[in-house]
Amino acid sequence: MNNIKVKDTLDRPLRDLRISVIDRCNFRCQYCMPAEIFNESFKFLPREELLSYEEIERVSRIFARLGVEKLRITGGEPLLRKNLPALIKNLTAIEGINDIGLTTNGVLLNRYAKELKEAGLHRVNVSLDSMEDELFKEINGRNVGTGPVIEGMFAARDAGLGVKVNMVVKKGLNESQILPMARFCKNEGFQLRYIEFMDVGNTNGWQMDNVVTKKEIINLLETEFELEPTDPDYFGEVAKRYRYKGTDTQVGFITSVTESFCGSCTRARISANGSIYTCLFNGNGHDIKALLRSDMTDEELTSQIASIWNHRKDRYSDERAEGKNNNQEKIEMSYIGG
Ligand code: GTP
Ligand code: 5AD
Ligand code: SF4
Ligand code: SF4
Repeated sequence: MNNIKVKDTLDRPLRDLRISVIDRCNFRCQYCMPAEIFNESFKFLPREELLSYEEIERVSRIFARLGVEKLRITGGEPLLRKNLPALIKNLTAIEGINDIGLTTNGVLLNRYAKELKEAGLHRVNVSLDSMEDELFKEINGRNVGTGPVIEGMFAARDAGLGVKVNMVVKKGLNESQILPMARFCKNEGFQLRYIEFMDVGNTNGWQMDNVVTKKEIINLLETEFELEPTDPDYFGEVAKRYRYKGTDTQVGFITSVTESFCGSCTRARISANGSIYTCLFNGNGHDIKALLRSDMTDEELTSQIASIWNHRKDRYSDERAEGKNNNQEKIEMSYIGG
């Protein structure tokens, strides 16, 4: 079968595929799966609703033929899915895939870092929103201190994985942690990315007033550090990065709210229950699981997915910035992993 590179209606190529392998999580972050809504009675997906590893490999191979070079495994918390290294190992064998990352809350990294590295994983992005135990416990809703997450980062680094740290900043919650997080990550040489709090999902009660902007964060950082901007690593890179002057350590900003980046968005997503989403904020998935479980050939599947991408016109964050009121129902973060 030949490779076909696809473009969407705004001329954006398809380069990245983010795959959510599970909707469960061992945390209940307030901004993602608030415990009062996602309490014990909340129904997580039954196993058969998740794509199998064979199905994930098959669909990844098809996406690679359409131009995807980079895969990211997400959740919920992906390390809760059984035998994840086996999946990673098979994904690394796909022709055209040159980067595989994992986004995790880090709690189980200490246990799995070595195995993941051996399976061929390149790097991990670990979420940590506070250096302070009490605040971190409040944020993750599960009474887990920072210790296991920090241990997980070190274990990942020791295993030879690249490590970036993601910090969602929410006004009134954790601005106090902007400088402590910068100090820790700079000392340890981890690239920290500050993420503007986004209106993902339908349960996080997002308001513009809750957003701490990149500009505000930089102003604060500059009271203590000297920063210089760096060039993007690749077309469509999500984070805007700066270097701490005189060091090799960088810090980044994910500015989906104040400097949206839809114009260069090359990302497709597969939700835990097996639908393709062409935008993080889109509520309408394309049920790929049903197609994978039908008698469709790879050829037919490839043209279906190509057609989904060819019709894509999503630019949700740009529209929000333009003041367009888009109140459509959105996919939950636990199904799509950011
Ligand atoms: P690398 O640059 O490959 O390290 O990964 P990444 O930053 O794309 O992935 P990660 O999972 O660490 O995501 C960091 C933050 O960026 C999360 O809050 C994501 O929700 C957000 N993000 C990633 N891609 C997009 C996107 O296409 N649109 C928006 N609005 N946010 C995104
Ligand atoms: N806004 C911004 N980032 C979020 N994440 C989860 N919820 C939100 C939100 N409302 C982040 C997680 C993780 C990444 C995948 O997405 O903290 O780092
Ligand atoms: Fe928190 Fe990530 Fe779990 Fe959501 S999926 S509750 S952001 S750790
Ligand atoms: Fe891409 Fe949608 Fe994010 Fe814009 S809002 S960058 S189109 S995922």
